[in-house]
Amino acid sequence: MHLNRSLTKVFLALSSIVVGAVAQSSGQWTTSPFNPPAIPLAVKSPYLNSWLPQGKNASAANEAWATFWNEAGFDDLINTLYAGANVDGVSYRLLGNAEVPNVITAQQLAVVITATRTSFLFKAGAMEINATFLSPIDLNNLTTMSRPTTYLYMTASSTDGKSHEVALYSDVSSRNFIEWGAVPDLADATVGFANDTGFLHLFTAAAQPARYSEINQQSPSATVYLSMQEIEGMTFEVGLDSNVRANFAVNSSLASAAFTQGGEFIDPSLLNSTSGLPTLGMAVDLGDLRESGIVVWTLTLMETSNIQFASVDGIQHRYPYYLSESLSVPNTSANIAGDFDNILLNSISIDNAVRADGLAVSQEYADILALSLRQVMASMEITISVGSDGQWNTSDVMSFMKNMGNLGSSVGINCVDILYSAFPAFMYLNSAFGRYLLEPLFNYQDSPAYTLPYAAQDIGTVYPNATGNPNPHMFGIEESANMIIMTYADILASGDGGLASQHYTLLKSWGSYLLNNSLLPGESYTKRLAPEFAEDNLTNMTNLALKGIIGLGAMAQISDFLGFVEDGSDFRGNAEAMIAKWQQMAVIDDQVFLSYNAQNVTGLLYNLYADKMLELGLVPQSVRIF
Ligand SMILES: *[C@@H]1O[C@H](CO)[C@@H](O)[C@H](O)[C@H]1NC(C)=O
Ligand SMILES: *[C@@H]1O[C@H](CO)[C@@H](O)[C@H](O)[C@H]1NC(C)=O
Ligand SMILES: *[C@@H]1O[C@H](CO)[C@@H](O)[C@H](O)[C@H]1NC(C)=O
Ligand SMILES: *[C@@H]1O[C@H](CO)[C@@H](O)[C@H](O)[C@H]1NC(C)=O
Ligand SMILES: *[C@@H]1O[C@H](CO)[C@@H](O)[C@H](O)[C@H]1NC(C)=O
Ligand SMILES: *[C@@H]1O[C@H](CO)[C@@H](O)[C@H](O)[C@H]1NC(C)=O
Ligand SMILES: *[C@@H]1O[C@H](CO)[C@@H](O)[C@H](O)[C@H]1NC(C)=O
Ligand SMILES: *[C@@H]1O[C@H](CO)[C@@H](O)[C@H](O)[C@H]1NC(C)=O
Ligand SMILES: *[C@@H]1O[C@H](CO)[C@@H](O)[C@H](O)[C@H]1NC(C)=O
Ligand SMILES: *[C@@H]1O[C@H](CO)[C@@H](O)[C@H](O)[C@H]1NC(C)=O
Ligand SMILES: *[C@@H]1O[C@H](CO)[C@@H](O)[C@H](O)[C@H]1NC(C)=O
Ligand SMILES: *[C@@H]1O[C@H](CO)[C@@H](O)[C@H](O)[C@H]1NC(C)=O
Repeated sequence: MHLNRSLTKVFLALSSIVVGAVAQSSGQWTTSPFNPPAIPLAVKSPYLNSWLPQGKNASAANEAWATFWNEAGFDDLINTLYAGANVDGVSYRLLGNAEVPNVITAQQLAVVITATRTSFLFKAGAMEINATFLSPIDLNNLTTMSRPTTYLYMTASSTDGKSHEVALYSDVSSRNFIEWGAVPDLADATVGFANDTGFLHLFTAAAQPARYSEINQQSPSATVYLSMQEIEGMTFEVGLDSNVRANFAVNSSLASAAFTQGGEFIDPSLLNSTSGLPTLGMAVDLGDLRESGIVVWTLTLMETSNIQFASVDGIQHRYPYYLSESLSVPNTSANIAGDFDNILLNSISIDNAVRADGLAVSQEYADILALSLRQVMASMEITISVGSDGQWNTSDVMSFMKNMGNLGSSVGINCVDILYSAFPAFMYLNSAFGRYLLEPLFNYQDSPAYTLPYAAQDIGTVYPNATGNPNPHMFGIEESANMIIMTYADILASGDGGLASQHYTLLKSWGSYLLNNSLLPGESYTKRLAPEFAEDNLTNMTNLALKGIIGLGAMAQISDFLGFVEDGSDFRGNAEAMIAKWQQMAVIDDQVFLSYNAQNVTGLLYNLYADKMLELGLVPQSVRIF
């Protein structure tokens, strides 16, 4: 792992948010490091984004269903993720909220959240069962980073020193676009089975997937895979949820025989019922033991194409990066499921590094990082195009971020102020992830279709159609400065000026826009926080002026870096003159208000952060408090 330590320090020191974060006890169990509004479970892509609501009056993982997190935040779109354990003939529910005859809820003892994992500890009879969700992060491998795969792994451990009979089970269900994969109607669904290199896969998909469409923010073109290594005692079944779960509860094994040799489901009408959901289940009867090994289920939400993009050369179809490795989950099963050991080791080291670096600032900061890293990385898809030679072009990497929480100035794709907020995380991990998100913004705005003198808010309003957004808007200073600041941040972190060099004319035009408009922003908006924030209605905002002037200072650095020294000294001279005027206008009796005009609204001058992060030294020490 190559984390960028020097930038890390700045990121950690400056973006620290103060939250009250302590290990909390909610009901019967402890949550560490703190009890958040929602706990990440299977969280790896805009469509594989499953959370357990918490907060006040939190439910245990086996008292509530996981929910899908969409643009409006997490809501009642259920992701049926169910798991159970049988111990000495008693059947316990571990995850999900299904009522199954003769199944009792295991007692949840603890929840632990780290940057890449969420684990639950349950007491089931004389055994403790640890069930952990893992979202792989491998900074050096775009296949792993792009693959919408999460792992659920469990271990069982005796609490009385004696051995006990143990069987473990997990399933996913899919139908009616309230479940995984958004299959609109069972009549349209295919269900299948595959056996490859020691791994078994159950999957379901819409028969005629509608490309680039969404149903309730979910993707109807995704194929849901549940996979597992074919270890001793492993069985699987596809059927109605209640039947499959009851089968496990009673028999500790499933009726594996429902498929033909060719992997086709023998009796589709079995699933054609309004009395339940088609369910993919996988179980392992571990037998009599004191300590189990690690039992792993793999959940993948596969897409075969994912983004249409308004490139400089016209509309382009883009595909998930991982397809460059292989088209099918079964064909990459050795990599997906078989990579688990490496991915777990890697995740532990990332968890430890993020925690240690966060603790260097404060306990609270380390805690908030544990919750947020997956959220950032799962909001995007890493894509490639088909090259002129008809092959996957892995040199053409672009990422597309879905606005997963209705934040920022627009709900659009690669919303620039959302990217800006996430950028420190990319700089910490690997600034290439940020560059892949900037690339399509630059590419689109270099096309004749884009004529505004300032930067766009996003590259399309409805995910996954990144088909451009040429509409005038009021965030010209904010977004132009954000683009320049992020570009220079990437140059500082990577030493790579390729992106800036390719789009220098565009960057320079934004620099000129900032020069002419930043000092007195008039009615220009800054990042919209929420309607109730007074600063949304302010004019001539001091904090926005600061963003524009710092953007100009960053532009000077980019010009210098690329050897355009005249541009550089021109931009720098203007930035210095403007910051001096800003001080005269904004600093009144040692105070800065949020608007030059309204000397009564105070707030956080968070845009000072960029001056520090980029080491510009533009804003005088007397204004900064750090
Ligand atoms: C807490 O949640 C449970 C269901 O999980 C509900 O029955 C109960 O009324 C809630 N209590 C409060 C105080 O909201
Ligand atoms: C589950 O086990 C892992 C080690 O494999 C540990 O890091 C984690 O804290 C455990 N979770 C709970 C809730 O005890
Ligand atoms: C999967 O394939 C392996 C090797 O070809 C075979 O031994 C095994 O029986 C197969 N399992 C199932 C469930 O078809
Ligand atoms: C994206 O555009 C296609 C047409 O190219 C349309 O069919 C689809 O519904 C759009 N997707 C969304 C989510 O609006
Ligand atoms: C348990 O297995 C037996 C025989 O394999 C089968 O007849 C029975 O239906 C299963 N039980 C349940 C509840 O499915
Ligand atoms: C499901 O049932 C409907 C009517 O209830 C029928 O039209 C349809 O063909 C059935 N589909 C399958 C796969 O059996
Ligand atoms: C998977 O691999 C097999 C054998 O290498 C090949 O025939 C098949 O087309 C591949 N399937 C996909 C979907 O890539
Ligand atoms: C990336 O990961 C994939 C699958 O996990 C593996 O097959 C591939 O060799 C890895 N590539 C590199 C460059 O490590
Ligand atoms: C692959 O993409 C790169 C970057 O966009 C481009 O320069 C190159 O020409 C492309 N290669 C092919 C074969 O299309
Ligand atoms: C911004 O301030 C300038 C200079 O005081 C003033 O002329 C202008 O009207 C103000 N704009 C708005 C929208 O308040
Ligand atoms: C800002 O303006 C909107 C409508 O223009 C209004 O509804 C809102 O109350 C105002 N907010 C404040 C804090 O004044
Ligand atoms: C601040 O002052 C301006 C005029 O100076 C007034 O219009 C506005 O209502 C005041 N806002 C607050 C929050 O007091």
